Amino acid sequence: GANPLQKNEMGHTPLDYAREGEVMNLLRASEAKFQEEQRRREVEERRRFPLEQRLKEHIIGQESAIATVGAAIRRKENGWYDEEHPLVFLFLGSSGIGKTELAKQTAKYIHKDVKKGFIRLDMSEFQERHEVAKFIGSPPGYVGHEEGGQLTKKLRQCPNAVVLFDEVDKAHPDVLTIMLQLFDEGRLTDGKGKTIDCKDAIFIMTSNVASEEIAQHALQLRQEAVEMSKKRIAENLEDVQMTDKITISKQFKEKVIRPILKAHFRRDEFLGRINEIVYFLPFCHSELIQLVNKELSFWAKKAKARHNITLLWDREVMDVLADGYNLHYGARSIKHEVERRVVNQLAAAYEQDLLPRGCTLRITVEDSDKQLLKTTEGSSSSTEKSKVPTLRLEIVEKDRKARKLEIQAPLNPENITYFL
Ligand SMILES: Nc1ncnc2c1ncn2[C@@H]1O[C@H](COP(=O)(O)OP(=O)(O)OP(=O)(O)O)[C@@H](O)[C@H]1O
Ligand SMILES: [Mg+2]
Repeated sequence: GANPLQKNEMGHTPLDYAREGEVMNLLRASEAKFQEEQRRREVEERRRFPLEQRLKEHIIGQESAIATVGAAIRRKENGWYDEEHPLVFLFLGSSGIGKTELAKQTAKYIHKDVKKGFIRLDMSEFQERHEVAKFIGSPPGYVGHEEGGQLTKKLRQCPNAVVLFDEVDKAHPDVLTIMLQLFDEGRLTDGKGKTIDCKDAIFIMTSNVASEEIAQHALQLRQEAVEMSKKRIAENLEDVQMTDKITISKQFKEKVIRPILKAHFRRDEFLGRINEIVYFLPFCHSELIQLVNKELSFWAKKAKARHNITLLWDREVMDVLADGYNLHYGARSIKHEVERRVVNQLAAAYEQDLLPRGCTLRITVEDSDKQLLKTTEGSSSSTEKSKVPTLRLEIVEKDRKARKLEIQAPLNPENITYFL
């Protein structure tokens, strides 16, 4: 069941490598068959896994995280779970790769659009011992008693909420003790002595602890997978299996991640109460392309709605923007790159009255080395920098001819190179 449409790092499918007629016909037939199969599988999957499907509509990649959370929630919804304890997840992975987003979407699936169904607490606000009171409320006679605790107040309104404890590693040990009780007994007593039963709640903790290790491990696995498929291509065309899908091994979890978690949380019982540790991995190239596409589509929709402008872009544009990926900022770096290199230009062009209403704009890649060199002459900009491909906007005229826009650079040094 190898995917004949899977592209390798260079964006080629196996068919692109086939020169002879017969192999080509074979591959073509297998592509058609595969597409048909895939359609059938998707229909079947939608019937069986509406939850995963829903999550995938909002979250790019992170398939094993989605599968883990999906499976646990399905067990719960169908009565195959331990009703004495709430579900507890720990989401691990670097910044900006979908941990909060998956928690949000899970809440949305379970509670539809009911706002109370999603409770989010930033645990870095509970680093000091005295802040325990802020968490569950202070006892009678203490300051803030009337106010109640941040968690208890919200849990009372919706005892089966999806509760997100962000940056849980920052919480004071006393706060962890309370959480442990909460996970263990499925109830919580607030400052007023009232007990809230929350066995039906879903608790999701997130942490960046060990994120560097997870990211490096994932990159290494992916590299190995790429090399493996290259070898396969060289050896035997029929057995091509190019895949970005990698799984974190049990051994890595036990030998590398466990000890790090232990050192941080210092308590085995705490880790023991977690139902699933969910791993979020850095994006591979095809996922980055999807992220870029999502981002550009977001702006294209805005351009249409606000200014009746149609926005198009080439495949190379997506590659250039995907290069702006920073492992430490995740999808946020892609959002930022699109804003910096595309939306800034759109705004400047709009301000300079270069965009007629109802026009069609195309984003293209231009290698304007010479121009860049000319304008940055004398400045300290390295030659490395001048190699970065420039993105340009052009207006697509009725006769299908394109006209490049001459946008004046706003006086913002950081952006200048992109407008010249
Ligand atoms: N896998 C993804 N698919 C689509 N969008 C994503 C994905 N990951 C992150 N994003 C987008 O990037 C932004 C940040 O993501 P999110 O808040 O989920 O990050 P996080 O993993 O919780 O990071 P942090 O550790 O910094 O809290 C959000 O706007 C989100 O929609
Ligand atoms: Mg987050």
